[in-house]
Order: sequence, then C-alpha cells, then structure tokens
Amino acid sequence: MKEVSQIVSGFKESIFATMSHLANQHQAINLSQGFPDFDGPSWLIQEHKKALDLGHQGKNQYAPSPGVLSLRQSISENYRKFYQLEFSPETEITVTNGATEAIFISALALLNPGDEVVVLEPFYDSYVASIEMAGAVAIPVTLHAPQFELNWQELEAAFGSKTKAIYLNSPHNPSGKVFTKEELVRIGNLAKKYDSYIISDEVYEFLTFEDAVHIPIASLEDFGERTITISSTGKTFGLTGWKIGWACAPPALSHALRMVHQFNVFSVSHPAQVAMACALKRIDSYLPEFRSTYSKKRELFIEGLRNCNFNPLAPAGTYFVMCPIPDQGTTDIEYCKKLITEKKVAAIPPSAFYLKAKDGERYLRFCFAKKDETLMAALKNLA
Ligand SMILES: Cc1ncc(COP(=O)(O)O)c(C=O)c1O
Repeated sequence: MKEVSQIVSGFKESIFATMSHLANQHQAINLSQGFPDFDGPSWLIQEHKKALDLGHQGKNQYAPSPGVLSLRQSISENYRKFYQLEFSPETEITVTNGATEAIFISALALLNPGDEVVVLEPFYDSYVASIEMAGAVAIPVTLHAPQFELNWQELEAAFGSKTKAIYLNSPHNPSGKVFTKEELVRIGNLAKKYDSYIISDEVYEFLTFEDAVHIPIASLEDFGERTITISSTGKTFGLTGWKIGWACAPPALSHALRMVHQFNVFSVSHPAQVAMACALKRIDSYLPEFRSTYSKKRELFIEGLRNCNFNPLAPAGTYFVMCPIPDQGTTDIEYCKKLITEKKVAAIPPSAFYLKAKDGERYLRFCFAKKDETLMAALKNLA
C-alpha cells in the first residue's frame, strides 16, 4: 500500500487527547483540556432546542455557506459596539466550524508552498499543523517566560522576504498574556514593513481580568486591511461543542476564505447558528456574570495553588494558569505524568506548544474553567 501524506504522517496525537486518556485511566481530576465541566446558559440551550423545531423554515437543512445572515449581523454589531470595528455581514464575515476551522482556512487561503509564517511560541497547536498542511513553513519566535515577552530583535529577525503572515493570539493561550496596544502596534508595523498578513486569534476576547483590556489588532492604525480577525462563541458561552466561530477580513481576503470554506465544510450547523445569533444579541446582559464567575474561579484557584506551595503566574486573560514546576530537573511531561498517577490531577505539559525553546519544560498549564468543587477537589489532591 502507498504511504499516507508525508505531512500528515508527521503529525502526532494531540497532547490534549494523550493527557485526557491518561487522566481517565487513572481517574484523575482533569484540569488539562480547555473547556468547562459545567453547562452553558440554559436560556441559550433552549434557543437551540427552539431552532430545532423550525424545520418547516429549513433550519435543519444546510445553512448559507458564509453563515446565517442574522448571526453575521449580530457579529458585525458586536464588533462595532465593543471595538468600533466595521465588518460588513455581506462581504466581510464568514461563520466557521469553530475558530479552528477559521485558523485552517486562513492558512489555505493565504499560503503557497514554501511561504514562511511567524508563530509566537508557546502557540495553540493547530497553527503549525495548518501552516504545514498548506505546504508552508512555521518560523517560531519565543515569548520569553515568566512575563512571556517578545524580544523585538528576535521578532524582526524572523521576518523576511518570504514571510507571508504572522499568527497572533491575544488573550494568549497558554500564558494568559494580553498584548498591550504598544506591542500590537509594533507587531502590526513589522507585518506592514514585510507586507505580511496578520491572522489574529481572539477566542478569549471577553476573558480578561483586573485592568487588562483586549484590543483587536484590526482596530489599530491601518492594520485591518491585512488582518483576519478570528473568534468563537465556544469559550464566551461555555458551549465549545457547538463549534460556532468566525473569520472577519476585508472583502478580497474574505472571498479567498470563503472559497476554502465552501470546499472544506461548505457550511456550519444551522440550528446552532440560529441560537448563537440570539445569544450575541443578549451579550450585554450575559457578560457581567460570565466575567465575575471566571474572576472568582481565577482567584480561588491561584490562591489555592499558592497554598499548595506552587508559584502560579496569575494570567491577565484566558482560563489557563501557567505554573513553574517545583521539582528541578523534572521535565513537564514527566511531572504531568507524576501528577496524574500520584496526585490524581491532570495538567498539560506546555512543551508541546513550542518548536524551538525549551521554556515549556519548566511549566505546567492548568485550566480553571471548572466547577468550584472540581477546583477544590484538585487543590486538595495537590496539597
Ligand atoms: C487559542 C485558541 N484558539 C482556538 C481554539 C479553538 O477554538 P474553537 O473551539 O472555537 O475551534 C482554542 C481552544 O482551546 C484556543 O485555545
């Protein structure tokens, strides 16, 4: 039999699957994968059920390929309201199967074999896989721990005549960093200087804490003309299984994205889009409780980790916390396995999110999007 694709044969099982499998085997409390262990809002689940009963209006058949118009309108209104960004529902917004599809179609829409794409490590693991599936090359630049800062010389050195794009993620998984306006302007100016696109993954846009503020890079200077802004309802509404995300970009870029999307999935779950259109209209009344719930979980978990003699790095955004490994000389993978077998708590070893630096080997990533009792039980085991 002939071999499968060379690119695909190089891919390994994702670290999330590996750790969740091990956690299940040892009945460990799973703080590894990034999703809540509690349900999304019941009113929104009701909206989904209502949409399922609209079969006579065709809501159980294929949705329009770019997405249900009312959802695209709600997305557009929210960008205007929160960030003074204008995206036309008709030509600049494409609904995707979660942010993951938006990340993938961005790579396929923009890249030719041999192009280079800058990725900031640690990175969300689908960036590099998407770049490689497009035949392009990922050029890693390290966000240096513990502050996860860029070295600007290193960043500029990664750009060159072959650079087609940069993947940016703010608020950043796994570090919890929220990029400042100054940092975004410097990154945007580099992208401009090297005529590169910016693929900006903003799925944690509403999960910022204390005085951190999320700024979409497309809202700064004239960077919008070269930016694909990606987000998702999965994290914001705690319904990651519905996989409703989107990509927003100027018309010519959106056209290219839609061409890939139509031959990739064609369209996304119709009833879930109808429900999410309603959810986005109610976001103003939803967000305050969402934010305060996660702020409390962040405090509870960080305080608890400190009491267990860990020294967590308080995240400015996302629902992850990076924590230096207390044992010198133990790698993140060894330590995570030990935590699962001995303490019955699963975390993610962040070295999986690096191509170049070894920084990840010194940290653990915990997810605190869990019920308070789950967090308390995990802390009891860690004590
Ligand atoms: C940074 C980042 N981007 C994208 C995603 C995937 O989003 P979705 O579930 O909408 O595909 C995740 C999920 O963990 C993430 O952490």
